[in-house]
Amino acid sequence: MNFIGSKYLKENDQKSMNIIKTFDDYQQQYQRSIENPEAFWSDVANDFVWRKGWEKVLEWDFHNAAAKWFIGGKLNITENCIDRHLPTRANQTALIWEPNDPKETSRYITYQELFERVCQVGNMLRAHGIKKGDRVCIYMPMVPELTYALLACARIGAVHSVVFAGFSSGSLVDRINDSGCRMVITSDGAYRGDKKIGLKSIVDEALLKCPTVEKTIVLERTQTRVVMKPERDFWWHDEISKASTNCPAEEMDAEDLLFILYTSGSTGKPKGMVHTCGGYMVYTNYTFRTAFQYQDKQVYWCTADVGWITGHSYIIYGPLSAGATTVMFEGIPSWPDMGRFWHVIEKHRVNIFYTAPTAIRSLEKAPLSFVDAYELSTLKILGTVGEPINEEAWHWYDRNIGKGHCPIIDTWWQTETGGFMITPIANVTKLKPTFATLPLPGVQPAIMDERGNEVTENGVEGRLTIKFPWPAMARTIYGDHQRFRDTYFSTFPGKYFTGDGCKRDEDGYYRITGRVDDVIIVSGHNMGTAEIESAIDEHSAVCETAVVGYPHDIKGQGVYAFVICYDKPHEEDKLRQEIREMVAKIIGPIAKPDKIQFVSGLPKTRSGKIMRRILRKVAEGDVSNLGDTTTLLDPAVVDEIKAGAL
Ligand code: WT7
Repeated sequence: MNFIGSKYLKENDQKSMNIIKTFDDYQQQYQRSIENPEAFWSDVANDFVWRKGWEKVLEWDFHNAAAKWFIGGKLNITENCIDRHLPTRANQTALIWEPNDPKETSRYITYQELFERVCQVGNMLRAHGIKKGDRVCIYMPMVPELTYALLACARIGAVHSVVFAGFSSGSLVDRINDSGCRMVITSDGAYRGDKKIGLKSIVDEALLKCPTVEKTIVLERTQTRVVMKPERDFWWHDEISKASTNCPAEEMDAEDLLFILYTSGSTGKPKGMVHTCGGYMVYTNYTFRTAFQYQDKQVYWCTADVGWITGHSYIIYGPLSAGATTVMFEGIPSWPDMGRFWHVIEKHRVNIFYTAPTAIRSLEKAPLSFVDAYELSTLKILGTVGEPINEEAWHWYDRNIGKGHCPIIDTWWQTETGGFMITPIANVTKLKPTFATLPLPGVQPAIMDERGNEVTENGVEGRLTIKFPWPAMARTIYGDHQRFRDTYFSTFPGKYFTGDGCKRDEDGYYRITGRVDDVIIVSGHNMGTAEIESAIDEHSAVCETAVVGYPHDIKGQGVYAFVICYDKPHEEDKLRQEIREMVAKIIGPIAKPDKIQFVSGLPKTRSGKIMRRILRKVAEGDVSNLGDTTTLLDPAVVDEIKAGAL
């Protein structure tokens, strides 16, 4: 191997001066990252293997939604995620794979084996005509081959576009066509708890409408019968057996595309967020090591699916570039029973556990015996992501999983940001429950008021923007830079608008209050629906709540709550009264829900986000046109909600 520009090839542990151990370190480095961002990021980036150094660290112009990092630098991200670890970590486990069914054997993939497999898959793709710049759609279950597929694309310079395997064929069509994929990598089927999903047949249906796809590669996973179309469909195992385990990496420019990942806009077609090689690599690695304070040999588990940005950045690229051992879990938290997560932690002696509030809330409802059955003493650090975590879930997680001694790293970020933005640093940042706390070095948040001015003092609330570029920011929406600009850079000219609301308290700590489109104004008071939901959830009978605003004659907007109870309530009106009092007690009488509808489920997307658009329509009494409901996990709940509307 002959890498130019790497000072650290032999000692592949990262030695930069940017390691943060104390809060003083944090403050100093934060200051430096603001005063001299180019020097700061240059130091971080020097910890990697570059084929050729960059000529310029940064060029940017937020008025044109433009930012470029490490300009002129050449690299291949897989040389940083794999090759450079081989001298010291060839036999270390890179990937621990935990299957859907606990009776099936786990797999442990070393860095050496990862290298060989990724090379084989890279050669297989090349043999089928895939070359640098081609888009490859990946639609697979959570198996090691999924990781190989992503890294193989990166190795040969193809652009991966992973589509979460829970999406329907219609969503697959939109995503494949939007980016003009030449190939789809899939499997015969996927396991999900006690169910089997026929992925290949979903692909077959999609491909009737996808003229750009020439070939598919099909991994055998569930032994589901599939139809293989000659000349188009190829079995993974046949093709891989012909492929060599040495695949020279394509030299990529720092700003060449690494991947496209679609994120559902609440309106319109999904946005293909574009991430590029250099900045994304530097940032996901830095943020992973910093926020979780990852130590050599630790076992790290992020429960997300690789179909989402969390899986890209913090199952694959961040951890592997840091030489970590990362767990990949094929199953679901509730099967075979509600103790599965805790079982997996015990089994693989997990040290760092990163999951979503929605998972915590569902597991919190199960008897504690499911937790207590397992040995969780290896845990050192807990993480959460995806939505604001409510106070109750935070404390449950802290008490019952962390046993009061694991910091909870509440990471705020987005598909668009590529990596963590506002988050505590484990054992460095003093925590406050439900606060994402402070920006990482290099991140410059600005809170904007109603009139579009930045509010600079503490003890304020407003819209969250970022006023300076960071290396992993999305560069554009694939094929539609104008939409990128309109969506993110036009609301507050010169700033990146996150779409989130937030508070900054007297200590300068940030608390994300939720999407600003979820804010309701009742009698002139600005209220976060998440805050009201959290208050309602405090009632012991309540399992989950979604609150939206609806037009109200006197107040402007009223508060409409959709409430799921553990047991169907016997005396609905009595319970309504109790809930109102609870909210009045926790937030104030102004936040008391005007209407409370008891429901058995909420309309959620497959990623677990409540589709508030639908609830708002129901609350407004306008159920004639609910728009597109095809991405819902369970479309049937909508009918029940419509029928019970108040
Ligand atoms: C939106 C981004 C980033 C990976 C998963 C979601 C919300 C995310 C937090 C957090 C409060 C959070 C925001 C953000 N969000 N993390 N720790 N606290 N809210 O990625 O699907 O792109 O969603 O998720 O509203 O804008 P995404």
